[in-house]
Amino acid sequence: MAMTDITHEDDLSVITTGTRTPTDISHIHEFLGCRTSPAWLAVAKDNLPLLLQDHANCEKKAAGTAMNLIFRYEFHRSLQEKLAQLVREEMLHYEQVLSLMKQRGINWHYLPAGRYAKGLLKHKRTHEPAAMTDVLIIGAFIEARSCERFAALSEVIDDEKLARYYKYLLKSESRHYEDYLALARSITDESIDERVAFFREVEKELIDSPDSELRFHSGVPDETLLASITA
Ligand SMILES: [Fe+2]
Ligand SMILES: [Fe+2]
Repeated sequence: MAMTDITHEDDLSVITTGTRTPTDISHIHEFLGCRTSPAWLAVAKDNLPLLLQDHANCEKKAAGTAMNLIFRYEFHRSLQEKLAQLVREEMLHYEQVLSLMKQRGINWHYLPAGRYAKGLLKHKRTHEPAAMTDVLIIGAFIEARSCERFAALSEVIDDEKLARYYKYLLKSESRHYEDYLALARSITDESIDERVAFFREVEKELIDSPDSELRFHSGVPDETLLASITA
């Protein structure tokens, strides 16, 4: 397996000042059931400190989820290798986001998770290997949505360095999406297409329906949220 080493290219000062070849994420747009609404982008763009805190939490959660899978499915060799790399990369992202917060004078603060991951995980089947298949498919959707939002945010935010950082993340997060999907396919002889289609609808609903909280993976800002932000 090709390992991705942490190199000079992962240095935050290099990432946020250099230019890079754009990552093609058209396959991610095809995979997802919908695109992020302009309404979410408009609110997110004006609330970057909150978004960065939630982003930091998501990176830590992504590493934690992958680590849990490593312990739970110890018998699965290729899963172990992919997940070990994933943990390493998500922790690097966590450190990078903490640095970006520090550079912007944003103090770490407690922010509870939104409805998104819970809304997906509540549909996870409980028997094996169905449970593992579902967790991996859910992982693919979370990574794909992150990618779609990083790309969309990078086009609208005024913070140029952060926009460059979001573009940098597209490469690894789109690979994480592919890895999760490939692993889901590898652990079962049956087609996963039906489950993928099912979770596509669930995920679309979470992104496209009104949400009273702003988070990295939240839905369309509802009236209450808009009122609290403009108050
Ligand atoms: Fe990440
Ligand atoms: Fe990721």
